[in-house]
Amino acid sequence: MGTPKIVGMAGSFSRPSKTTSLVRHVAERASSRYGFDVAVYDMIDVGPSLGSALWRNQLDEKAQHVLQEIVAADILVIGAPTYKGSYPGLFKHLIDLIDPHELKSKPILITATGGGDRHALMVEHQLRPLFGFFMAHTLPTAVYASDRDFLDYAVASQHLSKRIDEAVSEVDVFFARRVPTREAAE
Ligand SMILES: Cc1cc2nc3c(=O)[nH]c(=O)nc-3n(C[C@H](O)[C@H](O)[C@H](O)COP(=O)(O)O)c2cc1C
Repeated sequence: MGTPKIVGMAGSFSRPSKTTSLVRHVAERASSRYGFDVAVYDMIDVGPSLGSALWRNQLDEKAQHVLQEIVAADILVIGAPTYKGSYPGLFKHLIDLIDPHELKSKPILITATGGGDRHALMVEHQLRPLFGFFMAHTLPTAVYASDRDFLDYAVASQHLSKRIDEAVSEVDVFFARRVPTREAAE
């Protein structure tokens, strides 16, 4: 069996993006703990064919590639910017093109960003039920970050970092933690 892969999907159209930065940060932190290969995508990687596609086979090659990576991932990190209290419409449309069985039992670490704290429960009230439909294993701790948790688009606050640690540690249930060698520990 090859190295398990963690795939991050950020539902953001911005570059630079706080959401993509958070998703990458979480995926890399999980990778250093469990030894995953990492790939991170955003909505620009998906591209414009998404908007007019009613079925998956109407997507262009690069959008199909991103969807294939999502469904083939051993574990997902999903991140969405908060738009009007929820995830962006086109992000939902991307997820709409996934068949119901394709995310069944998949571990998913859910994250979101927003301008402030007012919509912090968006991870619980919007993202968690979305992946509940697919019968995925959303990890118990979801991560929400607001503007003040970032500095130059990088994860900066201790509070956020601690929350990420909590969420990443919940991956233990699915993957054995990489045991550090004696040399690395010294
Ligand atoms: C159309 C739009 C709607 C937004 N609505 C909300 C909102 O309802 N609540 C909130 O906290 N932030 C809202 N924001 C702010 C973004 O969620 C926030 O800046 C987010 O971190 C942007 O992520 P990004 O850097 O990945 O683009 C909105 C931003 C846009 C562009």
